[in-house]
Amino acid sequence: MNVLFLREHNRVAHVLREANPDWDDERLFQTARNVMIVILLNLVVQEYIVHIAPFDFPLENVAFLAEGARWNRSNWIAIEFNLLYRWHSLVPDAIGDGDTRLEPDDFRNNNPLVISRGIEDLISQLSKEKCGRIGLLNTPRFLIDRHDRSQPSVEERTVGLMPKARLASYNDYRRAFKLRPFSSFEDLTGDAVVRERVKRLYGDIDKLEWYVGIFAEDYGEEMMMGGLLTAMVAYDAFTQALTNPLLARNVYTENTFSPAGMTEIENTKCLHQIVVRNSNPDKHVHTSFKV
Ligand code: HEM
Repeated sequence: MNVLFLREHNRVAHVLREANPDWDDERLFQTARNVMIVILLNLVVQEYIVHIAPFDFPLENVAFLAEGARWNRSNWIAIEFNLLYRWHSLVPDAIGDGDTRLEPDDFRNNNPLVISRGIEDLISQLSKEKCGRIGLLNTPRFLIDRHDRSQPSVEERTVGLMPKARLASYNDYRRAFKLRPFSSFEDLTGDAVVRERVKRLYGDIDKLEWYVGIFAEDYGEEMMMGGLLTAMVAYDAFTQALTNPLLARNVYTENTFSPAGMTEIENTKCLHQIVVRNSNPDKHVHTSFKV
């Protein structure tokens, strides 16, 4: 994704330079950067959020929509959002089959892979891999185990943040989001292994920690996560994506992006377009959020 978005940024900068030969480098860079931010926001709302939403409804990223809304505020990230979005159980144990199968040591910290295989091949392979199921006891070992015995693992650091930030309990957050608090661990999950383990750890459902609770909660077939996590992620995604200052009435204009930049924004509807624009035209590439 870094390679892809760097190439797209440079492509947009080139288009802007052609249209505005008198601009200096700084203006070209900053305008290309702002155009890229809006393109990314559009893909996030119109393609990615649509894909993860529980129901099949079209969503549009509408500039000015947040203006005057009760939930509008400067866009900052809440600690809860930083934590609740760590969907590390989505990460598959391996990606692909046969000769090109990628194990965790292949798909992490491995820039030579991008150079040898090319983004066309890699994006096509990633687009065919199913992700894991969100929930406790489904996170790949390399995120749980320590690599260096003196350093905490990713999950250890993550769980450790919760008491450091002195967050409220799981049931307190349910109340805050107008959901009925659970009265027992039976309410929380039908998974006997998870239930027994959290029961042993916390004893009382009111003592259940929020970060553990949101990943322990049961959810239906059509859902991708439990009720409290769904409510919190939706709340944060909208209040943080749609409130971006670039989408404000006095900023989302040709004066900010230039007419050429505005055209780039309007002409970009999906990730696949960005991949095709920035890859070898002789190579077939498949980009999809769906398997
Ligand atoms: C191979 C896949 C992945 C690896 C190796 C990985 C690794 C990491 C690491 C090392 C951290 C920093 C932890 C810390 O020191 O506190 C982190 C944080 C995080 N991860 Fe992942 N992760 C992966 C996949 C994902 C996925 C699929 C998601 C969500 C869909 C995700 C969401 C997050 C978030 C929101 C944070 C906190 C970011 C921040 O504090 O700025 N990660 N991850």
